[in-house]
Amino acid sequence: MSLMRNTIAAAMLGALALGTHAHAAADPCKLEISGNDLMQFDKSELSAPATCKEITVTLHHTGKLPKEAMGHNWVLVSAADLVDVANAGMTAGLPNNYVPPADKRVLAHTNTIGGGDTTSVTFPTSILKKGGAYAYLCTFPGHNALMHGTFKFG
Ligand code: CO
Repeated sequence: MSLMRNTIAAAMLGALALGTHAHAAADPCKLEISGNDLMQFDKSELSAPATCKEITVTLHHTGKLPKEAMGHNWVLVSAADLVDVANAGMTAGLPNNYVPPADKRVLAHTNTIGGGDTTSVTFPTSILKKGGAYAYLCTFPGHNALMHGTFKFG
């Protein structure tokens, strides 16, 4: 009897552990992306389903160079605004994280980080249109040509 109880308990614990793990690994509203010292993002597309109330994007800088030399950020824009926001970011400078302040074309953005650092941004999906054409980029001067991708919502 006690052996059966233990077996059932073990099976339940196993199921619980699996469930917790699957949930943590698969939250579709929490996205990860990395930038490196070669001026590259590791992903050319990020997507989140329309069921997300908010989205968190975590940016890792897997390189070693400081942010003054190889800074990376993650900036979300309408695809049509990518180049204009990149140019405006360049003039904004590092004190502004290379993001033009109070610019409505910037839908969400992280800080600019250097090698070994991690940063994240959480934004409400109420700012997005389901199926809209969005893009993300790094606005560090000169980086957007290589560091950009497609963002899909819905
Ligand atoms: Co960059």
